[in-house]
Amino acid sequence: MSDPQARKPTLTTRQGHPVHNNQQQRTVGSRGPATLENYHFLEKISHFDRERIPERVVHARGFVAHGEFEAYGTIGDEPASTYTRAKLFQSRGKKTPVSVRFSTVIGGRDSSEATRDPRGFAVKFRTDDGNWDLVGNNLPVFFIRDAIKFPDVIHALKPDPVTFRQEPNRIFDFMSHTPESMHMLTWLFSPRGIPANYRRQDGFGVNTYRMVNAAGEGVLVKYHWKSQQGIESLTEEQAAAIQATELGHASKDLYEAIERGDCPSWQLNVQIMSDDEHPELDFDPLDDTKTWPEDVFPLRPVGMMTLNRNVGNVHNENEQIAFGTGVLVDGLEFSDDKMLVGRTFSYSDTQRYRVGPNYLQLPVNAPRPDVQVNTNQDGGQMSYRVDNRGGNPHVNFEPSSVAGLAEADESYREYRPHVSGQLVRAPIERQNNYAQAGERFRTMPDWERDDLVKNMVKLLGQCDKHIQEKMVWHFSQCDEAYGRRVAEGLGLAVSA
Ligand code: HEM
Repeated sequence: MSDPQARKPTLTTRQGHPVHNNQQQRTVGSRGPATLENYHFLEKISHFDRERIPERVVHARGFVAHGEFEAYGTIGDEPASTYTRAKLFQSRGKKTPVSVRFSTVIGGRDSSEATRDPRGFAVKFRTDDGNWDLVGNNLPVFFIRDAIKFPDVIHALKPDPVTFRQEPNRIFDFMSHTPESMHMLTWLFSPRGIPANYRRQDGFGVNTYRMVNAAGEGVLVKYHWKSQQGIESLTEEQAAAIQATELGHASKDLYEAIERGDCPSWQLNVQIMSDDEHPELDFDPLDDTKTWPEDVFPLRPVGMMTLNRNVGNVHNENEQIAFGTGVLVDGLEFSDDKMLVGRTFSYSDTQRYRVGPNYLQLPVNAPRPDVQVNTNQDGGQMSYRVDNRGGNPHVNFEPSSVAGLAEADESYREYRPHVSGQLVRAPIERQNNYAQAGERFRTMPDWERDDLVKNMVKLLGQCDKHIQEKMVWHFSQCDEAYGRRVAEGLGLAVSA
């Protein structure tokens, strides 16, 4: 019988030197002391000491899978080109590789996946024109509508800086001062706040974006992913039973489904609105605490995404993958939403810190190999290649009459919305903080509404009385029965 050891490649250092003994350090005699010239030992330990990179400040726990997006060539009943010139949507059957990272938001890298928390749903499309990231969540709205409040909402939701415990009193102290959060809280404390796993949840772009066609005309869009596995949620009791024995049930579920060939899929849909302020609506189309009514702005299917390949290495493809709302391709644009601009700064800023300034050179973040990357960016930590500069390595600037890179062709039609106004620090006018939260409360099935009230009462029961009263007041503005039922659960007199 052949020796199985003989077939294995030889263990080496990263210098390519063979390692003859991986079990013992070099010592003076078998009992030590150890010597300091043990190159292999020092390399092994010091690399190990640096094995982790800082975890994400939010969405630290997540799991990645790869797959493909197949376009329908249409947006609803119309050719996709009516609304966007983005190449990935133009023709029926066009396939674009994707990488998706699902995540929880508040817990650390090894925290429970059965917690009540929004779920991140971030998709990187590796298109012919470079990458497009659609960085969404599993709930259609968000807590706040101005990016300047993001550190505050996250500090309130994260553990107390002294006790390191997630404290309901801190969470609801902040939320009671944030009436725009009522819609998101109504989703989050319903069963939708704990999806059964990553396969059985929808996804939403949440913020409003634009699509632009070849004529340079823009529309406002909201993105929706519809799970083809159906939606399933967990009650607090079911979640508690899962996390008693398993912290990573959702990653496990996704990994195992893909391994057995049961590949999950989601249909991408868009809602479309003309690109203006829509004074006829009782909400602002750029407000991410609002949904767009589907009877007025129907969901229009665009294509199907299927996840069919697991990661080969969690660190390289999950910890180091970097998504951002600024990562757009021609035909897909920002809107004027002031959350979106804040997000766009924040993502690449944190990634330069937590992964490094050359994070876009990593294979998981770089565009597809057939997409050219020609830049004059130079140096920085961990730079391991020089981008294409057109053949002359001396010219890392533009313009040059000697060599180098040229600007892209002038036929490019940039979308040029007209913007004018006074510079102010002001809230939006059409806030309407309660109507959609009340509507959501009324349209839930009875069991979901009961569960929402129960979950609210459970956490608010741990809060100071003035915070309870303020939250009940907000809920009463959403719907009389919402406020009354939470107040009854807390043993408070109802204030109208
Ligand atoms: C102004 C508001 C927001 C700011 C400043 C912000 C900032 C951040 C930051 C700094 C990260 C960590 C990124 C990294 O380390 O790679 C992150 C992750 C993430 N955010 Fe936001 N965020 C905001 C709102 C939102 C909203 C509204 C959504 C949902 C639509 C969202 C979805 C996500 C997702 C899915 C991730 C995880 C991406 C991944 O899996 O790597 N964020 N956010």
